[in-house]
Amino acid sequence: MYGFNEKYQSYLSSFESYLAGYSNGLKTYPEILGESMRYSLLSGGKRVRPVLMLAVAEVLELDPNEALPFAVALEMIHTYSLIHDDLPAMDNDDFRRGKPSNHKAFGEANAILAGDALLNEAFSLCLGECLKGEKYALAAKFLSDCAGKNGMIAGQPADLYFSTQSGEVTEDELLFIHENKTGKLLLAPVIIPSILSENRYYLRLEQFGKELGRLFQITDDILDVTGEFESMGKTLGKDATANKLTYVKLYGLEGAKIRADECAQRSIAILESMDADTQFLKDLVAFVRDRKH
Ligand code: IPE
Ligand code: IPE
Ligand code: MG
Ligand code: MG
Ligand code: MG
Repeated sequence: MYGFNEKYQSYLSSFESYLAGYSNGLKTYPEILGESMRYSLLSGGKRVRPVLMLAVAEVLELDPNEALPFAVALEMIHTYSLIHDDLPAMDNDDFRRGKPSNHKAFGEANAILAGDALLNEAFSLCLGECLKGEKYALAAKFLSDCAGKNGMIAGQPADLYFSTQSGEVTEDELLFIHENKTGKLLLAPVIIPSILSENRYYLRLEQFGKELGRLFQITDDILDVTGEFESMGKTLGKDATANKLTYVKLYGLEGAKIRADECAQRSIAILESMDADTQFLKDLVAFVRDRKH
């Protein structure tokens, strides 16, 4: 019988065993580089992005082995984004995934370099996949665009810029930050399996991925206020102190929760319009909406 937690664990263990095989080969000189890369990469995040990619692959009847290298590349990019996000020059966070953040453990310079190396490693893995044919190259390009200057990296300076502003802000500005800094790395795992399956359900999955990405960051904003350090594993209450433009700042806690519910409802409606078994994805939407970590 289907159970959400069991299914999540099964995607997770496929991903972790593929990642373990890959990260065992991450030998570097000086050794501290590989150590700091592994410290963050193997420190037990939720792995929502790889789980999502494997779940969408299954909905599309795509062999998981086709998606796994991209799932690892994506998680490396996500991990590098967290290492850099925590740096003193950015959010200045001392904790991540329940441990001292990378720069607290290895120093700022090593943290910057571990992030750089994870990003390069991700694209080395993708370039290896590109050799298999055009659709793999298109999937890699999509990942690159989601990570790059019109993707996650666009959202990060926007997030920093708006934290220095005190005047009126609009929902469009808030959406720009969220769609990019977080949304794009949640769109990638939804669209990559579609690209690898001759664009099956591309447009509906694109809508779904955007709603889910927005939901994910709204709940992150909410948890910064209502969450607990033990489950979140990172410093909380920092958005207000740093004057971050968040859903809670613009609409208050209740307004943010209403918008999270609306995103969740729209995500589920899109999934229900697909002629496929999307039960796990629907439950994943609820998991993101109700998450405590
Ligand atoms: C944290 O992402 C950063 C955001 C985009 C909100 P996650 O909440 O997925 O962090 P991990 O990977 O589980 O630690
Ligand atoms: C993080 O947004 C987005 C990226 C890392 C790209 P936040 O700054 O809100 O994430 P947390 O709260 O530090 O995890
Ligand atoms: Mg940030
Ligand atoms: Mg941060
Ligand atoms: Mg946050």
